[in-house]
Amino acid sequence: MASTIRYIADADLGLKSVTDVFVNGDFIASDQATVSVFDRGFLLGDGVYEVIPVYAGRCFKLAGHLNRLKNSLAGVKMANPYKDQEWEALLDTLITRNGGGDQALYLQVSRGVAPRDHVFPEGVAPSVFMMTNPLQARSEQVKTQGIKAVTLADSRWQRCDIKAISLLPNSLLKQEAKEAGADEALLIRDGFMTEGSASNSYAVFDGVIYTAPKNNHILPGITRDVVLSLAKQAGIEVVEEAVSEARLVGADELWVSSSTKEVLPITTLNGQGVGLGKPGKVWQQIDALYQQQKRRHCDGS
Ligand code: PDD
Repeated sequence: MASTIRYIADADLGLKSVTDVFVNGDFIASDQATVSVFDRGFLLGDGVYEVIPVYAGRCFKLAGHLNRLKNSLAGVKMANPYKDQEWEALLDTLITRNGGGDQALYLQVSRGVAPRDHVFPEGVAPSVFMMTNPLQARSEQVKTQGIKAVTLADSRWQRCDIKAISLLPNSLLKQEAKEAGADEALLIRDGFMTEGSASNSYAVFDGVIYTAPKNNHILPGITRDVVLSLAKQAGIEVVEEAVSEARLVGADELWVSSSTKEVLPITTLNGQGVGLGKPGKVWQQIDALYQQQKRRHCDGS
């Protein structure tokens, strides 16, 4: 079991410099980090992950992310390797070692190193990997012009509520959207919109926000929770009901949300303008509140 693979050098990933990563208990320079080729994460995609935005050196909505991690681990019958306070301390160390500020933290827990077998190994310690990536600020263009989306059939499994590292279906869908000249795919299952390939999705009709309910067909997004609580705060009605594909063309607004992209307005769907063809009023209201909450987080309040 001594064989290891080297992570690709940071320069190949478009990162500016070598960062520190965390691998199985050690903080180490990313170009020195190794994992076993027998890791089930590598061989079977057998693991779960989280992506946590960091603003001003502090994790945003950490409790929500750690709670979802627990649910994902339970969903794949894996023990949580750390208590919340331990995760927090490790994440803080990684953030500090990588210079604080704004970052996108990635953490994954895989079932560990074992001879390849579909059946779970017994008595194997999970592998834990954490890295940081630059958090791209949204461009002015996205804010003023929105993004493009296409609808695609949701070809994923029946446990989309688990944040599993086996992302090939999501990756294929995102790639298909890209090849169609779009930024995101809105996924349709049994005639209804579930979510985006890497985001939750929303439609606005007559000032009311519609989003698919939390069930096994969507990832319970942490940003989605924030959006819904901001809507409540602003007195905007939210209906947690999936919108049919047929109704999407008549939506006043469409949005997607994720921890790294925040809330993004979709202004073109399948080549046609959405609503007035520009970011809508309800999105503007929610985005303003979201930015306010971020600023408060940065101020430490
Ligand atoms: N993805 N749904 C899917 C399928 C996702 O992949 C994501 C985020 C979300 C939004 O969840 P959250 O608001 O908690 O980020 C919904 C992350 C960012 C990723 O895989 O990189």
